[in-house]
Amino acid sequence: MQIYKVGGAVRDRLLGRPVSETDWVVVGATAEQMQAQGFRPVGADFPVFLHPETGEEYALARTERKSGRGYGGFTFYASPEVTLEEDLQRRDLTINAIAEDEHGRLIDPYHGQRDLAQKWLRHVAPAFAEDPLRALRVARFAARYAELGFRIAPPTLELMRQLSRSGELQALTPERSWKEISRALMEPRPDVFVQVLLDCGALAELFAELQARLAGGDCTTHLLEALRECARREQPLAVRWACLLAPLADPAGDSTALAEAVNQRSKAPRDCQELALLTARFGPIAQHTGQLSAAALFDLLQHFDIYRRPERFEHFLDACQILADAALWGPGRCPTELLRSAARAAREVSAAPLIARGHRAAELGEALKRERFAAVAKVLADARL
Ligand code: CTP
Repeated sequence: MQIYKVGGAVRDRLLGRPVSETDWVVVGATAEQMQAQGFRPVGADFPVFLHPETGEEYALARTERKSGRGYGGFTFYASPEVTLEEDLQRRDLTINAIAEDEHGRLIDPYHGQRDLAQKWLRHVAPAFAEDPLRALRVARFAARYAELGFRIAPPTLELMRQLSRSGELQALTPERSWKEISRALMEPRPDVFVQVLLDCGALAELFAELQARLAGGDCTTHLLEALRECARREQPLAVRWACLLAPLADPAGDSTALAEAVNQRSKAPRDCQELALLTARFGPIAQHTGQLSAAALFDLLQHFDIYRRPERFEHFLDACQILADAALWGPGRCPTELLRSAARAAREVSAAPLIARGHRAAELGEALKRERFAAVAKVLADARL
C-alpha cells in the first residue's frame, strides 16, 4: 500500500500557511488490511480510518457517484484498484487535489500548483456539481484567500450557478451548511463569502428572506461593508451573524419575524441566534437613543438582561456600532457611550439601601426596578442638557 498526504495540508504548506490538520489517502489497500494494522474505521460503510496514535484521517482511495439527492445520496467505490489519480479527480478544487508522497514529491495531475501560483479556485471535474456543499466551500475559500488575490474561475462559478438553480442546496442538512457558513463568517473576508453567494445565486436558495431585502437598493453595499468591518475588528461569530441578519430588521422595531425564520432554519448556536434577534429588534432604535423616552431605553436594557449578561450587551453595542458606521439602517451613528453609561448606571443601583429601608421579596424587586429606571432616566436627561 502507498500512503499520500492530500487536501488542505498540502495546499496550505504550499501557500506557506499554517497547517491545522492532515488528511491522508491510502492506495492499494483493503479495509481489512487497515484494521489489521490497528486503524479504526470511522463508520460502518465509509472507507475512512483513524490512525491508532495520531488520530489523523486515512481514507482509502475511492471514486464516488451520486445516487440521489442530498448528502446521503452517494455511493462510494473503494478498492485496492482505485488509483491515486482517480481519487484526486473526485475532489472539489484543483488546489485541494494535490498529493504528496513520503519523500515530499508532489503528484498533481490536475495542475493545482499552477492554480495556486495563478490564484485560481477552479473545479477539478464536472463531478464537482455532485456535492452541493461545494458551492459553500468555494465561497468560503474565496473569503479565506481573497487577500492573497484568489478568485473563482468563471467555469467554476458557472457550475456553482447551476448547482443553485438545481435546488440541490435545499437538500443540504442545516448542520453541514452551518458548519460552512460559520467557518466562512470567521474568515478574513466574510463579505467576499456573501458576495460569492449572491453572485452564484446560493444566497437566494439558503436565505431567501435576505436575498429579497438585498435585491435592489444599496443595502448590499452596506451589508458587505459591515461584514468586512467585523473581520477588521476581529469580532466573534455572534456579532458577525447578527450583522448578516441585520438587513432583516424591521425599521420600526416591531417585528423580528424574518430574522427569526432564518435563525430557526439555521443551526446557529443559541448565543448567535439571541444576538441576531436582539440586534434586529433593538438595533434600529438604538441608533436613535438620544430621542428615546426613558421608558423605551429602560425597556431595551431590561431585554438585554444587562445585569447577568453584560457581555451580550457589549456584543450588541459592537454590532450596532459597525452597522451604524456602515450606514446599514440609514445615516446616523450609534450612541454607544450613552447606551453604555445608561447600562452602567442601572447596574450600579445597589439593593443594600433598599433592604435597609425595609423592602423585601417581590416588593424589593419592584423598588430596585424603580431605582434603576430613575438612574437610566437621569443619564438620558444629563445627555440632553
Ligand atoms: N473534499 C472535497 N469535497 C468536499 C469536502 C472535501 O473534494 N465536499 C476534499 C478536498 O480535496 C479537501 C479534502 O477533501 O481538500 C479535505 O477536506 P476538508 O478537511 O473538509 O477541507 P480542507 O481542504 O482540508 O480545508 P480546511 O482547511 O478548510 O479544513
